[in-house]
Amino acid sequence: MTEPDPDADRERRDCLEQWDAAAGGWDKGGVWMRERAAAVSHWLIDAIEPEPGQQLLELAAGPGETGFLAAELIAPGGTLICSDQSEAMLEVARTRATELGLTNVTFRVINAESIDLPVASVDGVLCRWGYMLMVDPLAAFVETRRVLKPGGHLSLACWAEPAANQWLAVPRAVLIEHGLAEPSPPDAPGVFALADPQRLRALLEDAGFGEIEVDAVELDFGGDSFDEWWEIMLQMSPVGAAVRAATPELRRAVAAEVAKRLSAERTARTLVALASA
Ligand SMILES: C[S@@+](CC[C@H](N)C(=O)[O-])C[C@H]1O[C@@H](n2cnc3c(N)ncnc32)[C@H](O)[C@@H]1O
Repeated sequence: MTEPDPDADRERRDCLEQWDAAAGGWDKGGVWMRERAAAVSHWLIDAIEPEPGQQLLELAAGPGETGFLAAELIAPGGTLICSDQSEAMLEVARTRATELGLTNVTFRVINAESIDLPVASVDGVLCRWGYMLMVDPLAAFVETRRVLKPGGHLSLACWAEPAANQWLAVPRAVLIEHGLAEPSPPDAPGVFALADPQRLRALLEDAGFGEIEVDAVELDFGGDSFDEWWEIMLQMSPVGAAVRAATPELRRAVAAEVAKRLSAERTARTLVALASA
């Protein structure tokens, strides 16, 4: 049996607390993200080729957008399990599913590192921007493969390297410089933890996945004024709370520094991967 690791457990609690707190921001920012990230969701869904009657699982679903697009494709007869570690996020997802009139979705609080589902119970798993945040991504991949039927597919997205994602890297650096976030090693859980395609591939292989394809999708997060964009980022990011809690002077200094260093184009790159159980 694995020894309990108090540091890892604390990291898991912190992660849950931060995403619970960010759920309201994802409710408000949902439309913004849905429009800009649609290309990624479509890549992930096309990759697993959903068919009527299938059982699909979305992990770290947040507001559920990606899985909801697939839910329509598995009807009639198929069910989507929309899951996240955070009940507050699932509440956002429930509201959205009701707006969409979806009737084949169930909602479950699931930590992807220990999935409370039987062996070989789902045909496909989707996860957009979740695994890199997990304390033990290998455990999450092993669990994912356990619940997939043999030959079932996992498709996932993780942010690519910082140089291609200045919209994430610059605010992070500025927050660290201003004492509002902690520096962390590159492999530690966080937006860039699985940015190296070789590490991502190696973890999937170690978890027993085969037929692994890793690709990249370019996104455009520009178009809004800096102030509008920064407000959305602060609402949706788990570190936004630290900035909101800072003094008005510090908040202004951070925003000014990010605006100065970040190009108005705000391009983004995400890795996408398909793997077979
Ligand atoms: C960046 S949001 C992405 C939400 C959604 N997948 C999307 O693309 O819009 C990250 C989500 O991962 C969830 N998450 C982080 N660690 C998790 C874990 N170990 N198990 C399940 N969910 C997790 C968070 O609660 C949060 O909702």
